[in-house]
Amino acid sequence: MTEIELPFRTLEWKADRLTLIDQRALPSKVNYIDYYNYRDIIVAIKNLTVRGAPAIGAAAGFAMVLASIEFAKETSNDYLGMLRKAADEIISARPTAVNLRWAVERIWKAVSSHNNSSVSEKHKLIEDEAIAIEQEDKELCRKIGEYGAKLIDDGDGVLTHCNAGALATAGIGTALGVIYTAAFGGKDIKIYSGETRPIDQGRRLTTWELAASGLDVTLLCDNMIGSLMRSGKVQEIVVGADRVAANGDTANKIGTFNIALIADYFDIPFYVAAPYSTFDPETPTGEDVPIEFRSPEEIIDIEDYAAIKGSIHVYNAAFDITPHELIAGYITDRGVVKASEIEQAVLTPLPD
Ligand code: MRU
Repeated sequence: MTEIELPFRTLEWKADRLTLIDQRALPSKVNYIDYYNYRDIIVAIKNLTVRGAPAIGAAAGFAMVLASIEFAKETSNDYLGMLRKAADEIISARPTAVNLRWAVERIWKAVSSHNNSSVSEKHKLIEDEAIAIEQEDKELCRKIGEYGAKLIDDGDGVLTHCNAGALATAGIGTALGVIYTAAFGGKDIKIYSGETRPIDQGRRLTTWELAASGLDVTLLCDNMIGSLMRSGKVQEIVVGADRVAANGDTANKIGTFNIALIADYFDIPFYVAAPYSTFDPETPTGEDVPIEFRSPEEIIDIEDYAAIKGSIHVYNAAFDITPHELIAGYITDRGVVKASEIEQAVLTPLPD
C-alpha cells in the first residue's frame, strides 16, 4: 500500500527549533508554535499542547537537543551534568506515559556512553538519536497499522477512545493507524469515537483528524458507549496506551477501563495498539503505574459550574488501568500478541 499522507504535521524538527501543532486549540484553530527552549517544551507537554504517549516521547527527544544547544554555549565544563539535570526535568513533565522516560533515557544512553568525545560530537549524537526516535515512530505506526488492519473486516464498526492518532505520534497513529490502514486499504468501516471528557480528545482531535482524512466517523458522549455496543454496531474496539505493564495491564486515557468492561459483557474484542516503546519491563503490573491526576479546573471550569466551584471536591484522574484479562490482544509493531506473549515477543530486544 502507498504511504498514508495526512493533511497536518504534529511535530517537525528544523535544526534549532521544534514546531508543534497546538492541540489545545483544535479543531477551531489550526495553529503551529515554534519552540527554541527545552523548558518551553516541558510546559507544552504539561499543558497538552503536545500529548499522546509517542508524540510526547518524540517531543522530549527534541527537548534534549534544545537543552544540548543551550549547554554547549555555556562556559561551564559540566555539559553532561547539566544535560542529566535537564533529562530529569523533562522526564518529570508527566508521569504516566512511559515513552517520555524511554525517549530521554535512550538519548542519555547514547551520549553518556561517549564520555570522551567533544561537546559538538556529543551534540551530534543527541540530535541523531532524537531524529531516529521520530523516524522510527513513523515506522512503528505503519507496522501496527498493517498488523491491526487484518483484524478488521469490511463493513465493521470500530470504536476508539481518546486520540491515539497522527496527533498522538510522529506517524499515522497506533489505534487510528489500524483504522487508517484498514480504511485506506479499501475496507468500508464505520468509526465511533467517544468525547473523552474532560479534555475531549475524542471530540476535538479524533473526529477532526478522521474527518480531515475523509473517513466516516460518528461522535458520541462517553456515557452512550454501552448503548452503542448493545445496538450491535461495534465489532471491535481499538485503543492506544500510555504504558503497558509487563503482565499486560494497560494504562490509557480515563474511561478506557469502563469500555473494556462493557466490551467484555457484550463479548466484543477489545484491542490495545501500542509500539514496543510503550511496554515497560520495569512496571510489573497495573498497580505499579503512576497515574496522573490533573487540575480540578479541567472539569469544573465550565460556566454552569461557577455557582458550585469551591464548595465541592473534584476527582480528575487522567488515566485508568485496564486489567490484561479484558484485553483480547496487543497490536504491536512486532505482531498481534496475547498478554502471556509480551515478555518474549515485545520486551526481548531485537537483534541489531
Ligand atoms: O492525556 P493524553 O491526551 O496525553 O492521553 C493520551 C492517551 O491516553 C492515548 O490514548 C495514548 O497516549 C496513546 S497515543 C498513541
